[in-house]
This record gives sequence, C-alpha cells and structure tokens, in this order.
Amino acid sequence: MFLALERLIRLEEGYRQVFQVQGRQILLIVVDNQPILLENRCPHQGAPLHNGTLDGRVLRCPRHGFAFDLGSGAALDAPCAPLRLLAPAYDGDRIGLDL
Ligand code: FES
Repeated sequence: MFLALERLIRLEEGYRQVFQVQGRQILLIVVDNQPILLENRCPHQGAPLHNGTLDGRVLRCPRHGFAFDLGSGAALDAPCAPLRLLAPAYDGDRIGLDL
C-alpha cells in the first residue's frame, strides 16, 4: 500500500519534514536535489535527527555529534549502527512509502 507523504513539487533543496507513520517518526530530507527518507531516530541513543547539521551529504546528530553518510547510512567517525534509510516510493505527483 502506497502512503503519500509529500508532493514532489515541494521537494526543494533544503527541504526537511518529519512525518508520523505507524507510530514511527520518518524524516524526509532533500540533499543534492535527492529526496532521502530515514527514521528520525539516531542509531546511537535515539535522538531525533531532524535538527541535525548537514555538511554535504553528511548528517551530524545534534546530541553527541556522530556523523552519518546519508547515501549509505554508515556512521563515519564512531563505531555505531547505520542510519535506518527507507526506500522512497512514488505515485503520480507524490513521494511516499510502500507499506
Ligand atoms: S544520540 Fe545521536 S550521536 Fe548519540
């Protein structure tokens, strides 16, 4: 089942929005004109990531400053589990998730 999250026309560089999906917070973020979907929860100790700092495609968690590659999800400078990235789905003029 497709769950629409946002209209494609709104996905500009710098876009960030959090959505509640089945009890989870999902962060939709646009970097290099590419939409990225991930759980809004740091794999280190669960801090929300939507206020993290972006440097290119690297997202830095606001709580302890661990850095993550938004392409692979990998933690870059600390031993930590990767980000939980989700595959975007598309239907018409919307981006969302296949549930
Ligand atoms: S909770 Fe994100 S780095 Fe610790």
